[in-house]
This record gives sequence, C-alpha cells and structure tokens, in this order.
Amino acid sequence: MRAPVLAANWKMNHGPREAESFARDFLAGWHTVPSGVEVVVIPPFVDLAAAQAAFAGRPISIGGQNCHWESIGAFTGEISAEMLAASGCSYVLVAHSERRQYFGETEESARKRILAAHRAGLKAILCVGETLEQRDRGEMEKVLVSQLEGGFLGLGEGDVAGLVLAYEPVWAIGTGRNATPQQAQDAHAFLRGWLKGRFGPRYAEATRIQYGGSVKPENARELLGQPDIDGALVGGASLKAASFLKIVQAASRP
Ligand code: 13P
Repeated sequence: MRAPVLAANWKMNHGPREAESFARDFLAGWHTVPSGVEVVVIPPFVDLAAAQAAFAGRPISIGGQNCHWESIGAFTGEISAEMLAASGCSYVLVAHSERRQYFGETEESARKRILAAHRAGLKAILCVGETLEQRDRGEMEKVLVSQLEGGFLGLGEGDVAGLVLAYEPVWAIGTGRNATPQQAQDAHAFLRGWLKGRFGPRYAEATRIQYGGSVKPENARELLGQPDIDGALVGGASLKAASFLKIVQAASRP
C-alpha cells in the first residue's frame, strides 16, 4: 500500500513571514489530516529556516525546489543537496516543467540532480509531463518515455530508492484546466508500466506517482481516488493553508 504524498510547491511565492503564518494556520487544522498521508511543504529557499522552525516536531516534511549536482564550490547562486539536507529538507523537486521551460533543464541535468539528491539522503521528486502541442500530436507517451529514459539513464535501483515521480502535464499547470481523472490515471498507469519494465514490479508497485496541474479542493478527491494516483503536487492552491488542508483531507484512502 502506497502512502499518499501531498506536496505544496509554493514556487516563487511567500517570504519567511508568510511561511510562518501558513504553518500556524495549517497546524491549527492538523487534526483534520487523515492518518497515513504524508505532507511535504516546498517553499522558496529563503523560507527553509522559518518553515523548519515552524513545523519542528510535526510530521511534516520540507523540500527544496531545486538543487545543484555538486556538493560544494564556486557556483554562485546555487544550493546543493547537502545544504538542503542540512536545512531540514528530506525532499527536492527535480526538473519541474518551469525549470525545463525557463532555465534550460535537460534530461542530463535532471539525472545529475537525482544522483545528488540520493548522495545527500534526499528523496527526489522527478517531474515529467507533456505540453499541449505534444499531447495534441499524440506524442504524450513518447515525451514521457524520453524524459524517463534520459532522467534515469545509467541509474540503478539503488540510485532511485524512495524517488517520487510527479506527472504534471504542462497544459494543466496554472491554467485552471486540470487533466480529467481518467486522463491522469491513464498517464500514471503508463508511467508505472514503464517503471516496471525498467526497475521491476516491486519497484513499480512501491513508487508513488503524484499528479500535478490545477489541483484544487474541488477536484482533488476524484483525482486522488484513481488507483495509480498516489498524491498531488500542488501549486496555486497550496498557497493558502485552508485550501491545501482541504486537498490533503481528500487523500484519505478507504
Ligand atoms: P498549479 O497547481 O498552480 O497548476 O501548479 C502545479 C505545479 O506546477 C506544481 O508543481
């Protein structure tokens, strides 16, 4: 049984003060969070200290939005996986579509970041997904395969232990237009099938695959009710504690 993992990706929103007030409001509703659900908050780097302090002692994981692949050195403006771990993170996003689209993320850099996360003891959340043009051309599967093959090239099962996959169709991100539960389920089943072929059935069954793209309190239950959807990676609707709490509540499994 895979424990659902619900992650709040704040992107470039909220400073330390907003992080603290989010934590206060979220923790006030913590008693409504179903047991067996894992919650991850992924704030901007400058909020990590505030988030760690505010959530200290609570079963809430913290994640970074990106990491460099080197541990240390002259890379101005970069943050290493080891630094994230030392700041209380246990997760790191890898190759979010905004990183791919605006910051030149490639399959090779994604792979290096996955390895860096593993080296630092972090769990990578590897993001994959097709654009609308690619979907309309019938290329969804081809795109996902090339992202997976490139991202995992040469990696063994040990390198990707605990990794979370996030299916985020680019056309659904920040657009208000979520994939239908069936579209998302089909993509997730395809991704799990690929993992099975690459790493074997045990790994594929154990690996959690999140859906991301316009997840809201109104659509969360139906999306999260699909058999291969093991959580959500939430952008806009995770910025307010009340709306993220509603999404987390929708993850209860019978
Ligand atoms: P939205 O929930 O704002 O569509 O963003 C999704 C996303 O990119 C999460 O990583």
